[in-house]
Amino acid sequence: MKQNSSQNVEDIVESTSPIPFTARLIAYYRAQETNSESPLIIDPLAELLVGDLSSYVSKHRHTAGSRDYAIVRSYHIEKVILSNWCKNHVMSQIVLLGAGLDTRAYRFQPLCVNSHTVFEVDLSVVNQYKERILLDKQPLCSLIRVSTDLSNPEWPDHMLASGYSKDIPTIWILEGLVYYIEQDRVISLLSTAHQMSAEGSEIFLDVATHGLAKAKYGAFMKHFKWGLALEEAPAFFRSLGWHVDCSFADDYDQGRNVGQRALIFVHGHRGSILHDEEVVSESRIEADLTPQEFVRSFSRNHLSTIAKVSNTYAADTSRGYEAFLDFLKEIKPAIMKIVDDLSNPALVLRVAPRLQRVPQVLNSNVERKSSEEEKSFVSGVLYELLALLYCAIHGLRVWELQETPLYKEIEKSRVLGLHGIEPLTKLLLKELNKP
Ligand SMILES: C[S@@+](CC[C@H](N)C(=O)[O-])C[C@H]1O[C@@H](n2cnc3c(N)ncnc32)[C@H](O)[C@@H]1O
Repeated sequence: MKQNSSQNVEDIVESTSPIPFTARLIAYYRAQETNSESPLIIDPLAELLVGDLSSYVSKHRHTAGSRDYAIVRSYHIEKVILSNWCKNHVMSQIVLLGAGLDTRAYRFQPLCVNSHTVFEVDLSVVNQYKERILLDKQPLCSLIRVSTDLSNPEWPDHMLASGYSKDIPTIWILEGLVYYIEQDRVISLLSTAHQMSAEGSEIFLDVATHGLAKAKYGAFMKHFKWGLALEEAPAFFRSLGWHVDCSFADDYDQGRNVGQRALIFVHGHRGSILHDEEVVSESRIEADLTPQEFVRSFSRNHLSTIAKVSNTYAADTSRGYEAFLDFLKEIKPAIMKIVDDLSNPALVLRVAPRLQRVPQVLNSNVERKSSEEEKSFVSGVLYELLALLYCAIHGLRVWELQETPLYKEIEKSRVLGLHGIEPLTKLLLKELNKP
């Protein structure tokens, strides 16, 4: 696979490989990183897949894009997002849309824990090439290559025919993909992914800002089709059913140069589809408070109602269920805001998975379940609400939960069902009133 260094660099780029050049360049950066002194990513197969693009990169060093950005993005996906995902799911699907020359299925050790299936989705020319080069390599988990054109509306059928299941939680990774595809096609791609996803599914992607998308130079950016401002990104994705946190890549830079606040990491979970007007009107609630002030004020105003709802339900399930639904209706916009303001959406999945379903619960007027199921649902939602408020008040990250005394208290009280709720609301209130 090594190219002759005297070969014309334009040949290397345009004619020696049917693989899209951007995919090759990113894999080349992984190969370089692997051979560097303190690599963030070790990808032993990258060099085999991509060969040597060093003469191209040295000739185009001002426009060849940034190795740092591609590496920091991969590192963040692996270290933070996929590691947690693999650990927390007994069975899952990991869909790499526009997988390019990605080799995680062969090298990413967390895939060995639990039961995961990696779907590498790309054009058939890319998949065939990988099949051929990696023929004698053994993946760490089940690996399915889906050859399809993502701008073809039949791509979901190709996924389903390959063994993708709509019932298994899925994480969709669109790494270095969406800015190369027209925005209306991306909208349809993400909506379709939403429809195809089981509850609890997640998404990661990166988007360019408007300015970068307009720059039109260099190996990568000359192909960029569209961009988003950081402030408009959460509402954009929420209108497609994905409730996400968005941050500049610079916030995760690992000391590398990732591009001066021009590329945005987007990570979140599948939720209900909310349209712009709804998002906007909801985000107006107490807009002048900081997220922390907002959650404190919400807690002060509503902790006693949480206790009241649980006591009403314990005394009379019919009246209590009505009070419970009315309460959810009243607090829905505030809860969506608190969830949106959290800096780590994994936290919501961990402490409050049921709360994500609040909009559906309200819209579909859930049929009454058996009384035991209903009781456990009502108390589950109220406990999750308390856990969420506690985490939001303290700005906790998902890995900090175990260490906090009050969270331990919440976990312990769960066995008491409805009876554990009022004492907890009092504890939380006391905590809020501490100077
Ligand atoms: C920049 S590369 C990213 C590769 C990979 N995610 C990585 O980080 O190594 C983009 C990939 O998306 C694929 N791609 C672009 N448009 C596509 C489409 N319409 N259908 C399927 N794959 C597509 C390309 O073939 C290419 O492999």
